Amino acid sequence: MPTKAIYPGTFDPLTNGHLDLIARGAGFVDELVVAILRNSEKGTPLFSVPERVEMIREATASFGNVTVDTFDGLLVDYARQQNAKAVLRGIRAISDYEYEFQMAMMNRKLDPNLETLFMMPAEKYTYVSSRLIKGVFNLGGDVSSLVPPNVVERLKSKAPGKVS
Ligand code: PNS
Repeated sequence: MPTKAIYPGTFDPLTNGHLDLIARGAGFVDELVVAILRNSEKGTPLFSVPERVEMIREATASFGNVTVDTFDGLLVDYARQQNAKAVLRGIRAISDYEYEFQMAMMNRKLDPNLETLFMMPAEKYTYVSSRLIKGVFNLGGDVSSLVPPNVVERLKSKAPGKVS
């Protein structure tokens, strides 16, 4: 049976670190669904959910086994509905571990059949996060080597002149 995994997240916006993980995950499972959480508790997002869907679709168009979707509610319920066997998450540094471990254990408690797979992005992206990208961008910093080209364009359209 083909192995399907969900790569869930907020992706506000997609970074090169996310894309690196998508490439690694897509090479490992038969089908990878990048799933954007619709009801994120992270505050007001920079990009709407449809904008994020479009950006990720554009950036992952070359992968034959990657699709993009959105979900609400519990991840385990969504994974079950998708017939996915695993959840893919990235760990950049030890500081990510505690939160990721708690989440993986809670998800295992909620659904013992769903595995969490951790992968590490390339070393050059270990410091890259959507939160930092937005912070640097808002202060006029150049983030063009840290996010895909289509995300650079979207950032420019949010605040023309801020990204060189
Ligand atoms: O990109 P993020 O913000 O680190 O992603 C977090 C995400 C979306 C994976 C996580 O918040 C999530 O799965 N939310 C869905 C709600 C849920 O299932 N909660 C219980 C698991 S702890």
